[in-house]
Amino acid sequence: MADPTIEALYEESRLFPPPPNVLEGAEVTSREIYERGRDPIAYWEQEASHIQWRTPWTSVLDWSNPPFARWFVDATLNVTESCLDRHAEATPDKVAYYFEGEEGDTRVITYRQLLEDVCRLANGLAQLGVSKGDRVAIYMGMIPEFPMALLACARLGAVHSVVFGGFSADALADRINDAQASVVITCDQSRRKGQTIDLKRITDQALERCPSVHHVVVVERTGADVPMTTGRDVRYHDLVADQPAERPATETSSEDPLYILYTSGTTGKPKGIVHTTGGYLVGVSSTHRLVFDLRPDDVYWCTADIGWVTGHSYIVYGPLANGTTSVLYEGVPDYPDRDRYWAIIEKYRVTQLYTAPTSIRTFMKWGDEYPGRHDLSSLRVIGTVGEPINPEAWMWYREVIGQNRCPVVDTWWQTETGAMVIAPIPTVTPTKPGSATIPLPGYQADIVDDNGESVPLGGGGYLVLTHPWPSMARTIFGDPQRYIDTYWARFSDREHNVWRYFAGDGAKRDNDGYFWLLGRVDDVMNVSGHRISTLEVESALVDHPAVAEAAVIGRADPITGQAIAAFVTLRAGIVGDDALLAALRDHVAERIGKIARPASIVFTDELPKTRSGKIMRRLLRDISEQRQLGDVTTLANADVVAEIAARAQAQQ
Ligand code: WTA
Repeated sequence: MADPTIEALYEESRLFPPPPNVLEGAEVTSREIYERGRDPIAYWEQEASHIQWRTPWTSVLDWSNPPFARWFVDATLNVTESCLDRHAEATPDKVAYYFEGEEGDTRVITYRQLLEDVCRLANGLAQLGVSKGDRVAIYMGMIPEFPMALLACARLGAVHSVVFGGFSADALADRINDAQASVVITCDQSRRKGQTIDLKRITDQALERCPSVHHVVVVERTGADVPMTTGRDVRYHDLVADQPAERPATETSSEDPLYILYTSGTTGKPKGIVHTTGGYLVGVSSTHRLVFDLRPDDVYWCTADIGWVTGHSYIVYGPLANGTTSVLYEGVPDYPDRDRYWAIIEKYRVTQLYTAPTSIRTFMKWGDEYPGRHDLSSLRVIGTVGEPINPEAWMWYREVIGQNRCPVVDTWWQTETGAMVIAPIPTVTPTKPGSATIPLPGYQADIVDDNGESVPLGGGGYLVLTHPWPSMARTIFGDPQRYIDTYWARFSDREHNVWRYFAGDGAKRDNDGYFWLLGRVDDVMNVSGHRISTLEVESALVDHPAVAEAAVIGRADPITGQAIAAFVTLRAGIVGDDALLAALRDHVAERIGKIARPASIVFTDELPKTRSGKIMRRLLRDISEQRQLGDVTTLANADVVAEIAARAQAQQ
């Protein structure tokens, strides 16, 4: 953690108070809200008044069986009534989504239409036998039917399990099997950068080993001729054609599961993070309103994919619960040209942009010319999420995109937290480039050392959350013990009933109490904001017949944050040439998905190991990041280091 760039980041002293133009007409302008947040129970109870309940809770939090929390105990609701019905009634013609297809095709979907389409699909799914508690896998591109699919499940009280549309057939099959999904919703193809991805074909391949699935719903996106399995597959348009546009929402308890979303952990097996209904909706809607200074006429745009938690919480549930008008964009930032995002902002007069550091760094590299072509004056608040943002990128974002008018909200949170945790309130909190600032009201965070002792201001260690929060993950699907072991065991003190959630991130806190996130401290890489475990990639590599042993690390990369660097020893008699290198990269993409394809692979006769036989990953990282190597003489095979270093350098 004594990385020099991190030290530099921590020395950052620029402070930006909320710009005056943002304060005008803002709802929250006083620090008093932080005072209120010091009593999380009272705070979240008040925030809960913004969503629609059927029956009220008997208590706000039940923490009698930690770390398994229950929020808004005994309350009932259906999240779609908060997200759809009440807006369809009050403001039926308000736009829920401006859909912008990659090819320039558009659709405008009002709250009334969204409710009707969701009800039709819910009716269709019910006809296919889906009912409360059933799991439905969703594997789609970014088109309006994607959020509709999530909401249709929620309407029925069914549990959706979205699998990012860039994952491979294997990854899809593993997730379907873990959740025991009975239905899959997919599209014929998705569009990306002028190309198409055969989602239906990949689904078919996955389903060869998914016996739990009895139906597949296929949304037509490109109209490609895709094979349909009789009796199993049904076209979306046929399914919904004759369905009524109404469907009473199924009543769920506050603690019924809303969804499962898989995320990489430190083992090869992804974790099915479970979120429930009441607390989750309170958390996402409240933070969305506060951190984006949300106002009724805003046009908000989150560029994430609904395949990730950012899309679940801040494209679907948070914004819809708040009755927001959002942009939903299908494609990539550089299609047809590198100004596509800025063209979209100008076209729809976007007021809030929420994107990722990796994109911001890419835009920076492309140059100011592209945003310069467009009128970005509609923007009011600009946000970032997914990985640490370096002060340079933060400043560029503020100056070039925000034109020094828009506060930058750097939001730290995770799939497991469900909602933002550490982030500024743009109308209240002064910001510092590179810091996510301080915990939002209602949250309590701390930094602890290896012994779990709180580290005083000015120090660094592990980020922990010390009080439960409403949108927290409730468990890992089918594996509550892993939930305890992964997040709670390390820094909790059962004997004294002290519970601390360990996020897996390192952080420092400066003398003003501002948090500086330093990245993962476990074997999880963060590549362009996507979590990938080193072990998953290693397993994919050794699964190739040419590979004997593999070690994978995330090395610092100026654009993607981290890049996947692999070190591979081959089986006897196999030659590590360029063709094999390409084949191995493809093999990983095939096993996991393109996001996991190693940026570099170094063939070596041996991996550096300690005398007890442990692979020295830290040393490999030092080599990859071209740091001065320390004493390696304790290694069992010190002589391999120089050779690996030379080859690694040649590859980068
Ligand atoms: C990292 C995405 C620094 C962090 C919402 C976390 C961040 C992981 C930030 C969660 C940020 C996310 N600053 N690091 N603003 N936001 N991270 O589950 O390491 O895909 O643990 O959730 O991303 O990634 P996940």
